[in-house]
Amino acid sequence: MERFTYDIKTKIYFGEGEIAHLGEAVSACGKKALVVYGGGSIKRNGIYDDAMKYLREAGIAVVELSGVEPNPRIETVRKGVDLCRREAVEVVVAIGGGSTIDAAKVIAGSVSYEGDAWDIVLDASKVVSVLPIVSVLTLAATGSEMDTFAVISDMQKNEKWGTGHPDFRPVASILDPTYTYSVSAYQTAAGTADMMSHIMENYFSNESGYMQDRVAEALLQTCVEYGVKAVKEPCNYDARANLMWTGSWAINDLLCLGKPVAWSVHPMEHELSAFYDITHGVGLAILTPHWMEYVLDDTTVEKFAQLARNVWHVSPHETDLYQVARAGIKCTADYFKAMGIPMTLREVGIDETHFDEMAKKASEGMEGAYRELSPEDVKAIYQAAL
Ligand code: NZQ
Ligand code: ZN
Repeated sequence: MERFTYDIKTKIYFGEGEIAHLGEAVSACGKKALVVYGGGSIKRNGIYDDAMKYLREAGIAVVELSGVEPNPRIETVRKGVDLCRREAVEVVVAIGGGSTIDAAKVIAGSVSYEGDAWDIVLDASKVVSVLPIVSVLTLAATGSEMDTFAVISDMQKNEKWGTGHPDFRPVASILDPTYTYSVSAYQTAAGTADMMSHIMENYFSNESGYMQDRVAEALLQTCVEYGVKAVKEPCNYDARANLMWTGSWAINDLLCLGKPVAWSVHPMEHELSAFYDITHGVGLAILTPHWMEYVLDDTTVEKFAQLARNVWHVSPHETDLYQVARAGIKCTADYFKAMGIPMTLREVGIDETHFDEMAKKASEGMEGAYRELSPEDVKAIYQAAL
C-alpha cells in the first residue's frame, strides 16, 4: 500500500432532526452566510423553512442565491461570487444535491481570486483561499457533502469539468435521510447508480488494496440492497439512511488512498452531460456495462470475476472466469434497469452527432486509468451504448 495522509475535516450530523445543529455549525464559521439552493425543491418539502429557522435563531444574517441548475452553470457561480463580495459574506451554506454543493464550493473558492471563476474550474491551484462551506444534503448521490470535488459546466462551450481543492471539503454537513424522501424515483435511481460508479471507479485500479476492495464490495452491496427499495418505497428510512451514508463514503478518499486510482467512466459521462445536459447518474448507468465489456480481457477478467462473486454472488463454483465476469456485468446492467433507468443513449436523446468530439475530450481525461482508452476506444463504447 502506498503512503498517504487521510484528513477529513467534515463534521457529520447524521439523522432525523439533525438540522437543529445548523445554527451552531454555521456560527462557528461566521455571522453572515450566503445560502445557496437549487430550483425550489427545498421550498416545497419544508427544508428551506427548517434551515432558515435555525439560522435565524443563531443570529446569522442571510443572503440568498437560488436557481442552481442540475449540472450547475458557471454563470450561476459568478452570480454567487458577486453576492459574496458585495455583501461581505463569511460562510457559504449549500442546501441541496451535488449540483448546489458543487456550485457553493466554487463560489467559496473564487471570492478571493481576482480573475474569473471559470479559471478555478480549469485550474484549482489558482485558489487563494476558500470561504468555509456548510452543507445540508437533500439527495444521496455525489458525495460532495464530504469530498473535495466540484463539477461545473459552461454550456456555451459544451464543457463540463471537475475541479478539486482540499478546502472544498465542507467543514460540516447535515445528513437527514428524511430530507431525501421527496427525491423522485428517477433521481433516486440515478443517485444510486452514481455512488455505485464512484465505488467501482476506485475498485478498478491497477493495484488492489485488499482492505479498500472489501470495503468497496460492502458499500456496493449496500447500494444493491437499498437502491431498488428506495425507488419503490421513497419514505423507507432505513433505505434512505443507508444510501445517504454510502454515498458519502464512496468518494471521501477511503476507497482510493493507498493505491493508484484514475477514473474511466466519469470522463466519458461528463461529455454526455456537457453536450446533452443529461442526468449524471443515468449517463453512468448506460455507459458502465459497455465499458466493462470493452475492457474485459485476460488482464482484467480476474477482477471482474471478483466483483461478480463478491457483490453479485455469481456462482463460486464456476471455473470459467469469463463466464463469471460476464454474469457480473449482466447483473450490474440488470440492476440499473430494475431501478428504472433507461439503458441506451438514444432513450436519453443522444445520437452519434458529437461522438468524435466527445470521445477525444473524454480520452484526454483518462490518464493513468485502469485501461487508458484512445478516442477510438471511447467512440466504440459510445456506439455500443447507442
Ligand atoms: O434544484 P432542486 O429544485 O433542488 O431539484 C433537484 C434537481 O432537480 C432535485 N432534488 C434535490 N434534492 C431533492 C430534489 N427533489 C426533491 N426532493 C429533494 N430532497 O434533484 C435534481 C437533481 O439535483 P442535483 O443536485 O443536480 O443532483 P446530484 O446530487 O445527482 O448532482 C449532480 C451533479 O453533481 C456532479 C454531477 O456531474 C452533476 O453535475 N458530480 C459531483 C461530484 C462531486 N462533487 O464529487 C462527483 C460526481 O461524480 C458528479 O460528477
Ligand atoms: Zn459521479
